[in-house]
Amino acid sequence: MNLQQTVCLLLCAWAVKAQNLDFEDKSPNDLCYICSCRAERTEVDCSRRGLRDLPDGLDEKVKKLNISNNEFATFPENLGKLYNLIKLDISGNRLTGLSKNALFNLTALEVLNLSSNYFENWMDLNPNEVLAPAVNLKTLDLSHNRFKSMDNLAQGELLISSSLDTLILDHCEIESISGKSMLSGLNNIRVLKLNFNPLFRLQGLISSTLKSLYASNCQLITVDQNELAYLPSLVHLLMAHNYRLELSVLYSTSLKFLDISYCNVLRPNLSGFPNLRKAIVHHNMIRFLRSHEFINNTKLEYLDLSYNNIGSIKVDTFRGLGMLKYLDLAWNEIATIPEGTLLEMPSLTQLKLARNYLTQVGHLKSTSLSILDMSSCEINSIGKDSLEGLQSLVDLDLSRNLISRIPDSISSNTLKYLNLNYNRLSMVNNFTFFMLPRLTGLAVVGNRFTNVWNKAYFESNVYLERLDLSDNMWRCDCKDSNMYDFYEFVTLEPFKKEESYNLVCSSPMNVIGQAWLEACYFTWYPTQNVANADNLIWFIVVMITGLAVTILLVNCIRNSMKRRLRAIQAERERQVEEARDRLRQLRMAAEQEALNAPDPRDLIAPPSYDEALSMPKLNTSTHSLNDAGTGKTKRRRGRRKTKSSGDLLDETERNGDVPVLEETELSEASENNRRRRRRPKRFGSHEIAELDNSPGARRRRLSEYGPADDSVTVEIEAEMERPLRPRNRRYSSDDQEPRESNL
Ligand SMILES: *[C@@H]1O[C@H](CO)[C@@H](O)[C@H](O)[C@H]1NC(C)=O
Ligand SMILES: *[C@@H]1O[C@H](CO)[C@@H](O)[C@H](O)[C@H]1NC(C)=O
Ligand SMILES: *[C@@H]1O[C@H](CO)[C@@H](O)[C@H](O)[C@H]1NC(C)=O
Ligand SMILES: *[C@@H]1O[C@H](CO)[C@@H](O)[C@H](O)[C@H]1NC(C)=O
Ligand SMILES: *[C@@H]1O[C@H](CO)[C@@H](O)[C@H](O)[C@H]1NC(C)=O
Ligand SMILES: *[C@@H]1O[C@H](CO)[C@@H](O)[C@H](O)[C@H]1NC(C)=O
Repeated sequence: MNLQQTVCLLLCAWAVKAQNLDFEDKSPNDLCYICSCRAERTEVDCSRRGLRDLPDGLDEKVKKLNISNNEFATFPENLGKLYNLIKLDISGNRLTGLSKNALFNLTALEVLNLSSNYFENWMDLNPNEVLAPAVNLKTLDLSHNRFKSMDNLAQGELLISSSLDTLILDHCEIESISGKSMLSGLNNIRVLKLNFNPLFRLQGLISSTLKSLYASNCQLITVDQNELAYLPSLVHLLMAHNYRLELSVLYSTSLKFLDISYCNVLRPNLSGFPNLRKAIVHHNMIRFLRSHEFINNTKLEYLDLSYNNIGSIKVDTFRGLGMLKYLDLAWNEIATIPEGTLLEMPSLTQLKLARNYLTQVGHLKSTSLSILDMSSCEINSIGKDSLEGLQSLVDLDLSRNLISRIPDSISSNTLKYLNLNYNRLSMVNNFTFFMLPRLTGLAVVGNRFTNVWNKAYFESNVYLERLDLSDNMWRCDCKDSNMYDFYEFVTLEPFKKEESYNLVCSSPMNVIGQAWLEACYFTWYPTQNVANADNLIWFIVVMITGLAVTILLVNCIRNSMKRRLRAIQAERERQVEEARDRLRQLRMAAEQEALNAPDPRDLIAPPSYDEALSMPKLNTSTHSLNDAGTGKTKRRRGRRKTKSSGDLLDETERNGDVPVLEETELSEASENNRRRRRRPKRFGSHEIAELDNSPGARRRRLSEYGPADDSVTVEIEAEMERPLRPRNRRYSSDDQEPRESNL
C-alpha cells in the first residue's frame, strides 16, 4: 500500500467518524444513502433531493428532518410515526394546503418551517385545527407564501395553538390586517413578524403576550393611536423602512425598544413610551425639537436622531432624559447648541454632532460627557475655555473642520484623544497643549504645518503616546538641530509616536516628497561612523551575502569550464587517434592502388585545396604529372583564400616531404592545438588540425579561445563545413598519386 492510499484511507475514516456515518448500513436503498444522516440518525437532511415522497427508512429516532427544496405537493402523510420529531423543515416545496391531521402524533414538534411554498388561501391551512396535535410547537414559519389579506378573520379562520411562540409571515403579500385579531387564537404568541409585506393597515392586534412586533419594509402610513393599547406586553416594535409612516403619539407602558428609522416621522412623539430604553429614529423628517420633547422618556438610554433635518434645539429639549447615555444628532442642521443643553442629561457619555452647522466649539457644559464628535461641522474657532465645561471629556473629534488656530492653553484635565485631522492649522507652540496633562493621542493629519514642531511643545504631556503628523507641508531644514531632535522625539523607540515614513518634506524643492530621514540622512549622519548600528549591520549582511553569492557563482563557472575542457580534450584525443588510423589506412590504400589500374572516377573531379593539402605526398614531384590542370586548380583555389593562407599554400607546395606524422607531433597536437597550427605546416599535422575543425569542435574552440585565434585556423574552418568521411573517400579516389604511379 503506498502513501497516497494510506492517507486517503485515513481521511475517509476521519470523515466517517466526523459525520457519524454507518458504513455497514450504506446500501443503495438505505435512507442514509439518499439523505445525509447525522448524530446517529436523529438528524436527517434530505434537502434538495428532488423528492416527492418521504424516503423509506425514517423511523421514530428522527428528531430533525429537513426535506426542504424538494417537490412535495402535499404534506407527507405518514409522518405520524416520527413522533419524536422536533424540527421539520419542509420549506421550498409546492404545498398548497395542510389537512387537519397533517401534524398528527407530532407531539414533540417545536419548529415547523413551511416557508416558500404555494399557500395562497389562509383557509387551506385549516388554521383552526391543524396545530392542535402539535402541542409543543413553538415556531411556525409561513414566510414567502401568498396570503394577501388577513382582514376580518372569522372564528373558523383563526390559527389556534396554545403553544406557538413565533409566527413568521414575512414576504407574504399581505396588504391589510384588520378586524378581529389574527392573534386571538394564539395564547402564547410572543413574536409576530410581518416584514416585507405591502401592508398599509395594521389594526386590531390583540394579544396579552406579544412581545415583539416586526413590521419593517411595509407600506404603513399610520398606526392608530390606541393600537398598542391592546398589546400590553409589547417590548420591541420595529417599523423601519415604512417610507410614508408618520407616527402620532402612541401609548405603551411596556415598550422598551423602538425602531422607526427610514420613515416619514416629523416629530419624535415618544412621550407615550415612559419605559422606552432605545429609540432609533434616524433617516426621518424631523425639523426641530421642542422644549420638553422627551420629558416622559425618563428611562431612555439610547437615542439616535441622526440624518434628520433638525435645525434647532431648545435648552430644555432634552430635559428629563436622566438615563440617556448615547445621543446621536449627526447629519442634521443644528447651528447652535444652547449652553446648558447637555446638563439636562446627567448620564450622557457620548454625543455625536458630526455634519451639522456648528461654527464654534462653544461653551458646552456636561459633567458626564466623555466622547464628543464634532467632525465635519464647519467649525472655525475654538474658544480658549471651550473645554472647561466638559468635565469628563476624554475623546474630542474635531476633524474635517475649518479650524486654523488653537488658542494657547486650551485646557482640560481629562482629555486624552484630540483629533484635529483635516483642518487648517499652521502653527502650534509650547503653550498649545500645555494645559492638557492627560493628552495621549493627538492627530493633525492633513493640516498646513510647515515649521517642524519642537519637542518642548509636549513638555507637560507626559502620557503622550501617539502623534499623527502625516500629510502636512513640512519644510525640512536639516541643519536645524531642532528638526533632528523632534524627529527622534517622535520616532525613536520605545516611545515611538508616529511612523517615520509619515513624516514627509514638502519643501525645499530638492527634497519634496522625501521622508525626513531620507532628506536629512547625510546631514544628520555625516560619516559612516555615525551611521546607526542598524544600517551598519544591514550593510555587512548585504556585503557577506553578495560575497558568498559571487564565490558560489565563480566556482560553478569554473567547474563547468573544467568539465567542458576535459570533454574537449577527450574528443580531441579520439580524433587524433582516428586521424592516425586513417593515415595508416590511406598509406596502405595508396600502396595498394599503386598496384592496381586507375579508377575511371579519378578523372571526374580534381581535388579541392584542402584535400590537396591533406594528401600524403609521394617522393616524386607532382610536376611530372601528366594532368597539369590539377595543379592549377589547386593553386587557384588556394589563391581564393586570404593572404594568410598563402604562406600555407607556399609552404605546402614547397614542402615536398612525405606526410609523416611523428608521435611527438601528435601528442603536441592533442596538447596545444593552436601552437601546432601556427607551426610550419606539414601534411600530417595539418590533417589533424582539420579534423580538429569539425563543426562541433570548432564551435567549442571558438567559444573557448575567442576571436584571438589566428587567421589560418579561421580560413581552414571555412572549408571544413563538409564532413570528413566523404572527403576521405574522395581523397582516395581523387588522389593523383595512383595516376602518377600509374604512369
Ligand atoms: C435544510 O436544508 C437547507 C438547504 O440545504 C438549509 O438551507 C436549511 O438551513 C436546512 N434547515 C435546517 C433546519 O437545518
Ligand atoms: C403515535 O405516537 C405513539 C408514541 O407517542 C406511538 O406509540 C404510535 O405508534 C404513534 N402512532 C402512529 C400511527 O405512528
Ligand atoms: C425556514 O426556511 C427558510 C428557507 O430555508 C429559512 O430562510 C428560514 O430561516 C427558516 N425558518 C426558520 C424559523 O428556521
Ligand atoms: C405627533 O407627530 C405628528 C407629526 O408626526 C404631529 O402632527 C402631532 O401633533 C404629534 N402629536 C403630539 C401629541 O405631539
Ligand atoms: C407624561 O407622563 C405623565 C405621567 O407620568 C402623563 O401625565 C403625561 O400626559 C405624559 N405626557 C405626555 C406628553 O404624554
Ligand atoms: C517655549 O519655546 C521657546 C522657543 O520656541 C523656548 O525658548 C521656551 O523656553 C519655551 N517655553 C517653555 C515653557 O517650554
